[in-house]
Amino acid sequence: MIERAETQPEKPLLDVKNIKKYYPVSSSFFNRSSGYVKAVDDVSFSVKAGETLGIVGESGCGKSTLGRNILRLQKPTAGQIIYEDKDITKYRESELRKVRKEMQIVFQDPYASLNPKHKVGEIIREPLRVHREGSKAEQLDRVKWLLEKVGLEHHHVMRYPHEFSGGQRQRIGIARALALNPKLIVCDEPISALDVSVQSQVINLFQDLQDELGLTYLFISHDLSVIRHVCNRVAVMYLGKIVELGETGDIYHEPAHSYTKALLSAIPLPNPLQQRKRERIILQGDVPNPINPPEGCRFHTRCPIATEICKKEEPKFEEKMPGRWVACHHHLA
Ligand SMILES: Nc1ncnc2c1ncn2[C@@H]1O[C@H](COP(=O)(O)OP(=O)(O)O)[C@@H](O)[C@H]1O
Ligand code: SF4
Ligand SMILES: [Mg+2]
Repeated sequence: MIERAETQPEKPLLDVKNIKKYYPVSSSFFNRSSGYVKAVDDVSFSVKAGETLGIVGESGCGKSTLGRNILRLQKPTAGQIIYEDKDITKYRESELRKVRKEMQIVFQDPYASLNPKHKVGEIIREPLRVHREGSKAEQLDRVKWLLEKVGLEHHHVMRYPHEFSGGQRQRIGIARALALNPKLIVCDEPISALDVSVQSQVINLFQDLQDELGLTYLFISHDLSVIRHVCNRVAVMYLGKIVELGETGDIYHEPAHSYTKALLSAIPLPNPLQQRKRERIILQGDVPNPINPPEGCRFHTRCPIATEICKKEEPKFEEKMPGRWVACHHHLA
């Protein structure tokens, strides 16, 4: 994989303010709401135009929910989503139509997200048809251009998704996401389902497309080594909350939250000598139930440095150093 060059883009394209998404859980017998899964619980960050912000955390911590709410595929329970200075939180479907062109998503499983009965040409052209972008001839030309951009051949338009490998299917998903010339793409575990051998090719494609088209990515992954290669900044999530956010290099070099430290300690290092020197932190217990998260700091049940205050008082998510946000009473860096 190619190491990402540091860029310092400035203008925020997206501002996420105190977003919450609670899913009601119904007790099966009476089918009445008996509580909530607090999938995303008071999350705030901004994404600058042209940057890649990583969202990392274990499965179930709320990454996909966050992505879906930002794109307004779901309505948040509370909070605001500001896209290019427009508050889109309460936009109706008709108002969302225009912003939807500019915000797209690439899913983990390209096969599940592509209609198996449609030929690739139709799949990529569909967003253009739905939004009535140009004449049919112009749409077909754009499909060819998109195929070239993602490294597929013109004649592939006549084939069906099942005739392609996993990596090629993800290229089809990317071409479709690019059809309407978006600015922001939420990439939700876009390489997790692919063979390791093709993962770096698809990552390189994302990076080439970003450089050429000036795209902004929200890159969701549970894999810290992938995040390290593609992201300018990283937000670490635990049980619906961001616990640490900062420049990728700084976070990997000196994590400030003990959850980040534990996640990093599990990544294998290329050099076995370094590996032996590094302390491996094994987290005790499972991720608690998001219906009933621990009081105080949600991580206190697993944190190796927790004290009394951690059990009682929730730590604020604060900027502890320029550009570094941490939610911890006893942060490390
Ligand atoms: N539609 C839904 N209804 C109820 N609970 C959900 C729904 N979608 C996700 N969840 C729950 O919300 C939490 C966060 O899920 P998700 O956003 O998929 O996490 P991640 O993408 O980090 O694995 C999980 O506990 C999950 O079971
Ligand atoms: S607030 Fe306490 S329990 Fe939470 S991460 Fe910091 S030290 Fe650990
Ligand atoms: Mg997910």
